[in-house]
Amino acid sequence: MTVSLAHDQQTSTAALPIGMFDSGMGGLTVLHECLVQLPGEHFAYVGDTARFPYGEKSREQLELYSRQITAFLEAVPCKLIVVACYSATSAALPALQREFRTPIIGVVMPGARAAVATSRYRKIGVLATEATVASGAYPRAIGGLDSGAEVIQQACPGLVDFIEAGDVASQALADAVSGFTEPLKARRPDVVIMGCTHYPLIRPMLQRFLGRDVTLINPAAEIAREVEAALVRQELERPGDVMGSYRFYTTGDVDRFRETGARFLQMPLTRVRALPLERLGGLVAP
Ligand code: DGL
Repeated sequence: MTVSLAHDQQTSTAALPIGMFDSGMGGLTVLHECLVQLPGEHFAYVGDTARFPYGEKSREQLELYSRQITAFLEAVPCKLIVVACYSATSAALPALQREFRTPIIGVVMPGARAAVATSRYRKIGVLATEATVASGAYPRAIGGLDSGAEVIQQACPGLVDFIEAGDVASQALADAVSGFTEPLKARRPDVVIMGCTHYPLIRPMLQRFLGRDVTLINPAAEIAREVEAALVRQELERPGDVMGSYRFYTTGDVDRFRETGARFLQMPLTRVRALPLERLGGLVAP
């Protein structure tokens, strides 16, 4: 009797969606990879567009925002939560994993692992937001895998603003990319991690400025593999072979999220609901 109750509970938990959140649209590049790799799963995604960008926020702010959204997703409920934002992962992942019951996966470690496995000369560059660079999350993650690897970080303040606004090819963007990649290139890394949700969308430009000898790492595929491994380990894969669904919540404008989001996800966004900040504020006190 107890065994069958536990089995029923496991089966109903497996049918729940995977929760995901980001400061806005960027995490949709991570969701895209998960939709491809895990077609049978349901997903519930929160884009905190009202408080975008996270990359300029303090650790305390990012911990608070991440706690609020995790509490919301846990109440949905979700069987697993992915912090699909490098800045939020860098600032808040350990606190979230300590405080919540639901298993939580971040996006820094999968890219670090891929970079260490790829680098021949053990010189790894990281392009990321100011918050991610300041947290030291990448040097910690890479150092934990290979303490002899050199990590060269480059913060790119303002870069996400171009991409978020739909600009992936202007001269102003190219000038900004050139300015950020030049000091990194001068230190001659052989592998560079795109440690921000938006950067895979300007991959060709980054590749041109860094040079063809540099291997660019988009952690999204590695993240999707880690999500799959976590589901298998915990026997939480959704049963059956019917394609899963995906839905969205945004703290900002619903129509704008639907329109701009489709570009990041490269899939249509139909089910988008408003998630007012007041509702999130009521879940966790500052
Ligand atoms: N999602 C953020 C990250 O990956 C980039 C955008 C932002 O600054 O909010 O770090």
